[in-house]
Amino acid sequence: MFYLLILLLQMKLIRKISDLNKAIKFNYDLGFVPTMGGLHIGHESLIKKSKKKCEKTIVSIFVNPKQFNSKNDYKRYPRNLNTDLKILRKLKVDFVYLPTINQIYKNKEPLKFKLKKTQKILCAKYRKGHFEGVLDIMNRLIKRILPKFVFMGEKDFQQLFLIKKFLENIYNTKVIMCKTVRNNNKVALSTRNFLLNRSDVITAGYVASKLIDLKIKIKQNRVKSKLHIKNTKIYLIKKFNIKIEYLEVRNIINLNSNITNKKFKIFIAYYIDKIRLIDNF
Ligand code: PAF
Repeated sequence: MFYLLILLLQMKLIRKISDLNKAIKFNYDLGFVPTMGGLHIGHESLIKKSKKKCEKTIVSIFVNPKQFNSKNDYKRYPRNLNTDLKILRKLKVDFVYLPTINQIYKNKEPLKFKLKKTQKILCAKYRKGHFEGVLDIMNRLIKRILPKFVFMGEKDFQQLFLIKKFLENIYNTKVIMCKTVRNNNKVALSTRNFLLNRSDVITAGYVASKLIDLKIKIKQNRVKSKLHIKNTKIYLIKKFNIKIEYLEVRNIINLNSNITNKKFKIFIAYYIDKIRLIDNF
């Protein structure tokens, strides 16, 4: 009896779709945290939110090849399944879904989500096909899991924005935006940070602090936002020898660059030693 209880309370590892269908029931509030593994405290905070709000929580770990626009980036993406599972056990997650590439892409439907020209901004402009790959995998996962809530981090704001736009209406699922978790130096937690050395992390901290100051300056004088951005860009490149892909200010309603009387964010993508980082403030 005791062992049966332990077994029932144990986190379930699910690899096959048939086991997924058996394990999850659709009559309770199911929270879903999609990940590509390489779990960190940011993921942990998403899982804790889900556990608080929902009856059951499922986490997926799947490094999706279709959303990488460089083979090298895909190969180098940090993977550490044993550590991930330890973290998930500690958090008492109910289900972990670990599909293989073949299982996910057995159904060879072509990518059906196409971004409009106006949506090809920020990361969509520089990572061709990336968001089409993200929307496709999220569609495949949500179709199988049918969660009531999906928990995602604000650090990937554009990803969240597009998933909400394309998928929230197709399924009876609500995407919950969760605050970015930062380290003591204000660096947003990210799986890619595992690729940084200590001095890179310090640099990323300086960049974050500078952008927090920039946001204050722009709030005080929106008319001069272009000038403030230009000066900050020059400063960051000279001081830290980083390559900035974009540094832009956009409103958070439709992500266009009109910020008059609108809530806005500063978006950045940059490289430290060939490692691409993104953030927003
Ligand atoms: O943000 C991520 O880790 C991925 O883009 C996601 C949402 C799990 C889709 O593969």
